[in-house]
Amino acid sequence: MCGIVGAVAERNVVQILLEGLRRLEYRGYDSAGVALIRENNLSIVKRTGKVQALVDAIDEDNGKGTTGVAHTRWATHGGVTEVNAHPHYSHDRFAVVHNGIIENHKYLRSELTQKGFEFVSETDTETIAHNIAANMAETGDLLQAVLTAVKGFEGAYGTVVIDKQNPNEMVVARSGSPLVIGLGIGENFVASDQMALFPVTRRFIFLQEGDVAKITRTSVTIIDSDGNEVEREATESNVQHDAGDKGTYRHYMLKEIYEQPDVIRNTLKERVTTDGLTDNLFGPNSDVIFEKTNYIKIIACGTSYHAGVTAKYWLEQYAGVHCDVEIASEFRYRKSFVPDNSLLITISQSGETADTLAALRLAKELGYMSSLAICNVDGSSLVRESEMSFMTKAGTEVGVASTKAFTTQLASLLMLTISIGQQKGMSSDVKSSMLAGLSSLPTKLEETLALSDEIEDLAEEFADKYHSLFLGRGDQYPIAMEGALKLKEISYIHAEAYASGELKHGPLALIDADMPVIVVAPNNELLEKLHSNVEEVRARGGIMYVFADKESQFESDETMRVVNVPNCKDAIAPIIYTIPLQLLSYYVALIKGTDVDQPRNLAKSVTVE
Ligand code: G6P
Repeated sequence: MCGIVGAVAERNVVQILLEGLRRLEYRGYDSAGVALIRENNLSIVKRTGKVQALVDAIDEDNGKGTTGVAHTRWATHGGVTEVNAHPHYSHDRFAVVHNGIIENHKYLRSELTQKGFEFVSETDTETIAHNIAANMAETGDLLQAVLTAVKGFEGAYGTVVIDKQNPNEMVVARSGSPLVIGLGIGENFVASDQMALFPVTRRFIFLQEGDVAKITRTSVTIIDSDGNEVEREATESNVQHDAGDKGTYRHYMLKEIYEQPDVIRNTLKERVTTDGLTDNLFGPNSDVIFEKTNYIKIIACGTSYHAGVTAKYWLEQYAGVHCDVEIASEFRYRKSFVPDNSLLITISQSGETADTLAALRLAKELGYMSSLAICNVDGSSLVRESEMSFMTKAGTEVGVASTKAFTTQLASLLMLTISIGQQKGMSSDVKSSMLAGLSSLPTKLEETLALSDEIEDLAEEFADKYHSLFLGRGDQYPIAMEGALKLKEISYIHAEAYASGELKHGPLALIDADMPVIVVAPNNELLEKLHSNVEEVRARGGIMYVFADKESQFESDETMRVVNVPNCKDAIAPIIYTIPLQLLSYYVALIKGTDVDQPRNLAKSVTVE
């Protein structure tokens, strides 16, 4: 989603800004722009499409400045046009970039129009630029102008303002959309994500909700939401930006699919042994909190939500704790009941998803006993605001469609199930079987990845299809949901997932030879039921693709193609069966020629609601 980079320095900052934008590219965007101040001149360049189009448009004349801001935009208000791209400006003097949504922008627009300001774009952001220009006429001080302006904003913003008449400063403000200040020597920076600034600094100040800051080359002044000047601690980041390049892989997504055995090894390392799990693995006092926990609410979005649904099956079956899972955007806008001793668990790859963060903040008000974030980004807002946190060690995930982040979430949630189960009297047999399953995971994943050629071959049959149906039962139902999500995200084929028992309640009406049915069928107590579901589809002329182990006794024939997945222990089966579905969607997308790593209209990190 939208990305921000800003700099104030003695040197030309254009390359720093463009490199920062490149590092944020994977998040998804549709246009990019940069504003630079040089000797009281303001130049703005914007382009729709990729950052490379912006780079190509920058030359000797417009590509110099010692203070500047840059932005990648993911359209919310107003179409994907150059005019709507950021930076926005006012009076050819102020330039503004903004992440988030100013919800009262219509009111502000009409108020500013009455004052004589002319709007050129359809965006909510342009109201920020004109607002600051209006305030500046009264205060003459950029920091004061921004402090006054934010009082009138409703909604979410991470915003950076520069003024050609005050060329040695940036003023930034954060509310509901993250901003981090990067500290250099004789130069300072700002970005929506620390990763954008790694080439220039590792020292950061994370702004807090409601902060407004003035940044010069040598100083940072922060005013908190109460209007007081405050000191915020600077920290040294140890976050690894290890995405590297694609190596020999054609896409990041494929690279990330193949990284899964290794990143799961990392996630398990020094946490799981054959004897058990490290004490208080999920944070200080987590064992005591788990012992007290009577009810778990899991909150997440997208793929992370599917990890949560899988965990519900595990937590209730193996740990004996009542658990509900809810999509963050639903939870945050309804009245919910909180039983005593409830634990809130959020799951998020980025730790910056707006709805998940809002849900966490609401849960605190509702009186949850404690909160735990399962997250892939250390130092993210979700991690900083939760009482306990647990890092999935997937490394940087670049592909918008989540793969390795999902399976490391699942491995972490299995550890959580054992950890909570231990406090709730889980039998030693169940515990050792789950531990053995976890330890076997990396090798089983390697064996499963060997199915790649067979699945690539099968993908050919999907290329001309418009619809598909994914079926699963028990803890494989969320895996079917995740398989359907992957296929629609990157191949744009309509895909729905159903719990197989629901077939007769509607989806059977859709079955014909043009609607492939994908079945995840592990060998467990639900296998017989699944055999019946398969027969129901066959009787209606459906074409099936079944992922099952050899002992499940599915045979390929003219209406059914069976792909044999390695045998594995029950608890880890959902993780293993995820792999063939990831590969299937990848190869279908490849045949269809879509933008696999940055699918249309989607963003990696959804920082607005
Ligand atoms: C976006 C991404 C998905 C991700 C979801 C939740 O939709 O494209 O891949 O699952 O956000 O993101 P989170 O970072 O909270 O896991």
